Amino acid sequence: MSVKKLTAFASLLLATTLGGHTALAATSSSAHEIHNIGIVWAGNMGETLGKLWADAGYHVMLASRHPDSLHSTANEIGHGTKVGTAEQASQFGDVVVMAVPYGALPQLGQSLHQQLAGKTVIDVSNPYPGRDGATAAKALSLGSGKASAQYLSGAHVVRAFNSLAATAITSNAHHSPLIAVPYAGDNPKALAQAKTLIQQAGFAPVKTGNLATATRFQPGSSLFLQVLDEKALRAQLADAR
Ligand SMILES: NC(=O)c1ccc[n+]([C@@H]2O[C@H](COP(=O)([O-])OP(=O)(O)OC[C@H]3O[C@@H](n4cnc5c(N)ncnc54)[C@H](OP(=O)(O)O)[C@@H]3O)[C@@H](O)[C@H]2O)c1
Repeated sequence: MSVKKLTAFASLLLATTLGGHTALAATSSSAHEIHNIGIVWAGNMGETLGKLWADAGYHVMLASRHPDSLHSTANEIGHGTKVGTAEQASQFGDVVVMAVPYGALPQLGQSLHQQLAGKTVIDVSNPYPGRDGATAAKALSLGSGKASAQYLSGAHVVRAFNSLAATAITSNAHHSPLIAVPYAGDNPKALAQAKTLIQQAGFAPVKTGNLATATRFQPGSSLFLQVLDEKALRAQLADAR
């Protein structure tokens, strides 16, 4: 049984069966509890993280501009993984993951404003001016964390998982020793939820600080694409100060 499920049982959660898939329904809920994760959109990163979290016992909804194209992916992930639009996944998630070409963030921030307001949003998207244009150029000059918070105003943004390649996430999840995932955010509840989801995906969370510190692991930084255990990552962060 996963750590999440053990924690859930310890919190007096009631197991129910939904469509043949065992789900956990809260009899008493804490504000930090996560049951549902919505992922916008499900490309390499969305599918990779969705599988790890579905395996850990979370209910996952993958979003696409063409939801019907995701049914086979959702079936492969299993555990009752759902598909939907960006709006549906944002509504569904207690936590929402943005895994999109960075240039799409401003428009998504507007169209999903209502669904994302007050929610934790883990943004794994990376700004590349060659692909994402002026939106990315602004993000690199302002800092990706601050820029994402502006583009997704009203949401509690945490930057995480963006510094590891999707293939490295797949091959290193639950590795011993655990591989570190740096994360940054401003909101305490959002940081706590991101920490839990990093752990449940099979990695060691290392908080770099507030959103402004997300520059320390964005494209172009020394930590970007580095596969390091927690000790090595903390040493690199200390050296860079
Ligand atoms: N791949 C990695 O190793 C990796 C690692 C860390 C961070 N990231 C970042 O995470 C984000 C997602 O990366 P990814 O590799 O998962 O991307 P991806 O495989 O290309 O998936 C992105 C999804 O976004 C949707 N989409 C909407 N507008 C699009 C457009 N103009 N071009 C392409 N796709 C578009 C597509 O889904 P539908 O067509 O189904 O709507 C696509 O499947 C990016 O910002 C990337 O830089 C990627």
